Parts: sequence; C-alpha cells; structure tokens
Amino acid sequence: MTGRLIVVSNRIPMGDVPSGGLVVAIHEALSERGGLWIGAHPEVVDEAGEEFIDLPSDSYEKKAFRVSEEDHRTHYLGYANSVLWPLCHHRADLLAMEPSYAPGYVRLNQRVARMIAQIATPEDRIWVQDYHFLPLAAALRAEGVTCRIGLFLHIPFPHGSDLDALSERDDFLSWIAAFDLVGLQTQADVARCLETFRASGKGQIMLDGRIRIGKRKLDVLSFPIGIDAERFAELATKADGRSLLNLSPREDIIIGVDRLDYSKGLPNRFRGFGLFLDKSEEGDRRVSLLQIAPPTREDVTAYAEIRDELEAISGKINGAHTELDWTPIRYIHRPVPRETLAALYRVARIGLVTSLADGMNLVAKEYVAAQDPEDPGVLILSRTAGAAEQMGEALMINPYDPGDIARAIATALAMPMEERKRRHAALRKGVMTENVSAWCESCLSWLERPRRPSQREEESDREQETT
Ligand code: G6P
Repeated sequence: MTGRLIVVSNRIPMGDVPSGGLVVAIHEALSERGGLWIGAHPEVVDEAGEEFIDLPSDSYEKKAFRVSEEDHRTHYLGYANSVLWPLCHHRADLLAMEPSYAPGYVRLNQRVARMIAQIATPEDRIWVQDYHFLPLAAALRAEGVTCRIGLFLHIPFPHGSDLDALSERDDFLSWIAAFDLVGLQTQADVARCLETFRASGKGQIMLDGRIRIGKRKLDVLSFPIGIDAERFAELATKADGRSLLNLSPREDIIIGVDRLDYSKGLPNRFRGFGLFLDKSEEGDRRVSLLQIAPPTREDVTAYAEIRDELEAISGKINGAHTELDWTPIRYIHRPVPRETLAALYRVARIGLVTSLADGMNLVAKEYVAAQDPEDPGVLILSRTAGAAEQMGEALMINPYDPGDIARAIATALAMPMEERKRRHAALRKGVMTENVSAWCESCLSWLERPRRPSQREEESDREQETT
C-alpha cells in the first residue's frame, strides 16, 4: 500500500512507550506500518497557531497541535464534554449548552484540518478517534483532502430522541456523513446510527447495510474494542493483591474501577452494595467494596456534583456498617498504577460494572483477563454497557435497580466453583481472541483495503466536488 496511516486522537502519549489500552494498540499499529500520529498538546497556551510541534518518537512520526485557553474551554470542556458526552451517554438532561461551544468546537476542527491538509496526500488513510473530532472529515474535505477517512467512535452512538435535544442535530449528521467509514462499538450502535439517518431522511439504507447519501455510500460497521489481554493477564501475577490491601483472612473484596463519571452508575453501585450489607447475616466472612475512581474533567459542573453525591452515599453506608476493625467501602479518589490495578483485580471475588451507558467498558475485560482460571472471580456486568453484547457469560444486572445489584452480589458470592470456572473460561476466550490488536487490524483492514471501481468513481466525484 502506498501512502501513510495518519491517526488523529485528542490524547497522545508524550513519552516514547505508552502504557495502556488504546494508545498501546495505536502505537503498535504505527510501529508496524509507519505513519503519523496527531494529537492535542497537553499544555494549554495563549495563542495556538497553525504549526505542528514534532514529538520524539522512533519508528513513526508524532505531531501535536497547540490548544489555546479558548479552545480548551469551548472544545474540550465545552462541546466535547458538556454537550456530546452527556448526549451520547443518554443524559440529555445534563447538556450544558453555551453559545460559544459549537463554534469553538468546529473552529478547532477546522484549524486541525487546515494543518493536516498541508501534509496529507491522496494515498494516505486518516483514522480519526472519538467524539472530539466529529467535524474533521467535513473540514478536511472542505480543504480539498480526498483520501479515505474513517472515524472510530469509542462512546455510544446517541439515541434519536437525545439527538433531538441537540441544536446542531443536522450538522451532527452531516459531520458523520462526511467520513467513508464509521466504526462503532456494538451492533446496537450501528442500528441506532442507521435508524437515525433513515428517520432524518438524510440517507437511504441500502440492502447491503450501507447508507447512500447523495452520490456517496457510507459504511457503518461495528468493531468492538478489546484489551491487550495476554499482557494484562501476565501483569496480574506480578504482585500479591491481598497483601497490597492488607486483607484479613476473613475479608473478601468486590472491585470497581472507573473514572469518576456520571455515566458509570456509581451512586447505584454504592446503594446496591449498601442493600446487600443490610440484608447479609453476620457470618464468618466480610465483604468490602474497593472502589477506585480517579478524578476526571473536574472543571465540568456535572463531574463536581457526582463527586459530592458519591462521598455522601459512601459516608452514609460506612457510618451504618463500619466496625472497629473493618470499613465496608474503601474509596480511592486517585489513579492507581496499572500493575497494582491488575493485582487487585486478581484477588477480587467480584468485578462490578454498573455503567448506565458505556461505549464498551474495558474494565470488564481487564477483570476477566486478570483472574486465575483455576479460581476465578465473577464479573457482574451492566446490561447497558457495550461489553454486554460480547460478554453474555457475565452475571447481567439492570444498573438502574440497586436491588438487582444487591441480588447479583449475593449470587456471585455463593456461586459454586464449577460454574465460576465455566463462565470465566467462556469470557476469557473472548477477551483473549477479540483483543485490541484484532480490533485494530479489523478497522485498518477496512481503511486500507484496495479501492473498488465504484469507490474510485465516488472518490473522483469527491475530487471534482472539492476543486
Ligand atoms: C473516554 C473517551 C476517550 C477519553 C477518555 C478519557 O474513554 O472515549 O476519548 O480520552 O475517556 O477522558 P479524557 O477527557 O481524560 O481524555
């Protein structure tokens, strides 16, 4: 294949060797193929300008664009995280719209598009990551860029009823329509995307599942993201989680790991655990909930509110149940190194995922990978997380119902070894094979496949449209 792979993501690792999930996959794909990774420079400046900053990297190029105070406020904190994030996570009630947000969001995308247009060639492939860059393909086309452009949306595709709450609803669909490929996490996301185009009258669904928009055809496909499962499983054996936690021999742990985000269903998780404690009988063993919830996007109001709510609920539960030598909820509000995290997953009897809405939820996959196959814990998984589509052997819960969460905790703790092993083996197989490199390969094999004659026609139409 001639031409380069150009990946665009908001976060870009500044050091040489990235340490987790998606960034590892992109690093590996680029190390293998060569190419260019473009992302936002983390330092916010007064004047952003239109020059890339070259970042140190060995086998491929890395370039960062600058972000001004105004970009940070309107693009990152504003439209991306106060509008698109709640919208896509089914929380239209949390939309915080300000008149400067949408123009600031589009302006940043147009500036990045102008910068990319200076260096992209028609043979390149541009792979755009996530909701920070929805208008990028349209902006690149406006700059005359004709190469193939794919989007992967890591978060859910919004429900049609929520999209109605977006003032830029029509723009949203035009932004999506300007890509050649839209990759989504699940089949349910694909169905929502197709239905949204059909209902809006902006696209016609073809028999092969593509959307015809004017002369062009748009592929919308699901590529469920995975983790670097082998490496994570190995990491989990490096330390002893029980001694890290200083667990007494009669104490078991339930683990939850999430950015402190309202989409993760943390208040109900705590309430469900509280109900479980209320109903459990004084016995030989004690069960604690270890919740690791590092801070995130704290300058967005909805995130400050969830923190207060959670502290109040955990305070109440701990107040009611704590004993001289035992605290039921251990709540850590800061990041924990991955090696430590992997060891903690391994000793937890239950991995508890209660997202109200979630693109995938990689914690569910990390929990499964970290287990000892000879004595595995039980994954309790929200049926509204993207991961539920692939992980049917988990104990599924309705995250809106604390009583359901409490019952699932009791079921998981009483589950016989044979059933735990059976469920875990099935989940592990999926996590190991549908891993992050398989995800990367399937997205890229689409993006890099040879053009069919009809696509060449579409692309030459586009060249004529843009000249
Ligand atoms: C989600 C998004 C990512 C984002 C990450 C962390 O996983 O899909 O695009 O990078 O959250 O959020 P942050 O705002 O810290 O980048």
